[in-house]
Amino acid sequence: MGKMVWKDDYSVGNAVLDSQHRGLMELVNRLDGDEPLSLLLEELTRYATVHFQTEEKLLQAVGYPDLEQQKFQHKAFRAWLDRTLADWESGGERLVSSRDLKAYLRVWIANHLQVYDAAFKSWLEK
Ligand SMILES: [Fe+2]
Ligand SMILES: [Fe+2]
Repeated sequence: MGKMVWKDDYSVGNAVLDSQHRGLMELVNRLDGDEPLSLLLEELTRYATVHFQTEEKLLQAVGYPDLEQQKFQHKAFRAWLDRTLADWESGGERLVSSRDLKAYLRVWIANHLQVYDAAFKSWLEK
């Protein structure tokens, strides 16, 4: 699958969040390498947890009106990651296909950045 490549269009108007978003994309790109999937998923869980906290705090500080929706999205993703990691560690390919898992991650992250995170750009630029 093609690599995710950062574009200036993805900027949400905040340097910290932009660099975390780049980091998330790099993590997703590493799924194509030969690192053990469970380690990558664990790293992604830690990274996403820090990122979501940073983002929610900033959005709260600027009074972003759709903060609850962001929180809901983040929570659902974290829950999916936890479940998937547990399934992967207990059954590997028997329970979860690594291809489906990677495809889901790519789509979720691309969609979340371009739809949900893009929506708060004007709030952070104020
Ligand atoms: Fe977000
Ligand atoms: Fe984000």
